Amino acid sequence: MLEDNFGRQFNYLRLSITDVCNFSCSYCLPDGYQCDTPRNFLTLDEITHLVSAFADVGTKKVRITGGEPCLRKDVVDIVAACKSIAGIDEVAITTNGFNLMEKIDELVAAGLDSLNVSIDSLNPAMFKLITGHDKLKNILAGIERAIELGVKSIKINAVLAKSFSTNHLGEFLTWIADKPITVRFIELMETGDGAQFFTQNHISGQAIKAQLLEAGWLQLVRGKQAGPAQEFTHPDYIGRIGLIMPYSPDFCRTCNRLRVSALGKLHLCLFSESGIDLRETINLNSQVATIAAIRHALDDKTVSHELAKRLTGGTKHLAMIGG
Ligand code: 5AD
Ligand code: SF4
Repeated sequence: MLEDNFGRQFNYLRLSITDVCNFSCSYCLPDGYQCDTPRNFLTLDEITHLVSAFADVGTKKVRITGGEPCLRKDVVDIVAACKSIAGIDEVAITTNGFNLMEKIDELVAAGLDSLNVSIDSLNPAMFKLITGHDKLKNILAGIERAIELGVKSIKINAVLAKSFSTNHLGEFLTWIADKPITVRFIELMETGDGAQFFTQNHISGQAIKAQLLEAGWLQLVRGKQAGPAQEFTHPDYIGRIGLIMPYSPDFCRTCNRLRVSALGKLHLCLFSESGIDLRETINLNSQVATIAAIRHALDDKTVSHELAKRLTGGTKHLAMIGG
């Protein structure tokens, strides 16, 4: 098992396979993807080696993220490779959904267990304003297809921001009334490039929580392995609502995840100063060496992020390392 100095155990790996994204979400890449870093991303072989090493020390779940992971031609092979590694019980992906309709059948056939899609608004015009793309209808069709295929866990990530989230709870509630999906509202986090957007747009999730409780939604007791979301159910709705509030004081207490960037850097936190390069070690082709490097790095994991002090570490935007 991978454990840090605060007794937290890590059984969940978030692996970015590209930092390129084709959307330009206003809180992430408002000017679109800039080619200012090298793009020699981890290869399928390197990914297989890395995930096997993590699995050897107790990792059970791998999430493939980006940037936009479905921009990689070998994304289906990557899902299949992760799924075939002994010890990995769950393979998930986080996507903006731009080609979900075309890709979902193959992804599911490759063994995909869970799907997260980012949708910040169900209003097509607002969606286009936020992302720069008029793709909402297509993305929603991809999600319908995922439901049809019986994907076990389907979650929608919706970032909360003053300029686009006011009064949109009702739209999401109507949408999930008859669908087995969870919509998770995420409080906007400050990033290096996003300071101004953050100052103008950050809102707390508390108002949504109050509205939900008022309307008869019940908060679920969190399981031991549960992620950072508070979850709510309602007898009249098949879908669920989640709230992710990274500015709550005890947010990091249940941290169970480590991140590796598309260039093979281990990030101990979304907001650490820099990543620890694992690529050289990966290429020694020794599981023992890779595991030793991960364990050694874990010694430096801090108890919490310092977002409340507006310290955002080296993270310019979340496309760099996956959200
Ligand atoms: N704050 C909160 N969530 C963010 N995401 C991207 N940038 C931010 C931010 N600054 C979300 C995306 C995606 C997930 C991976 O992270 O919307 O759903
Ligand atoms: Fe792309 Fe996701 Fe960033 Fe939007 S939030 S620009 S979809 S990486």
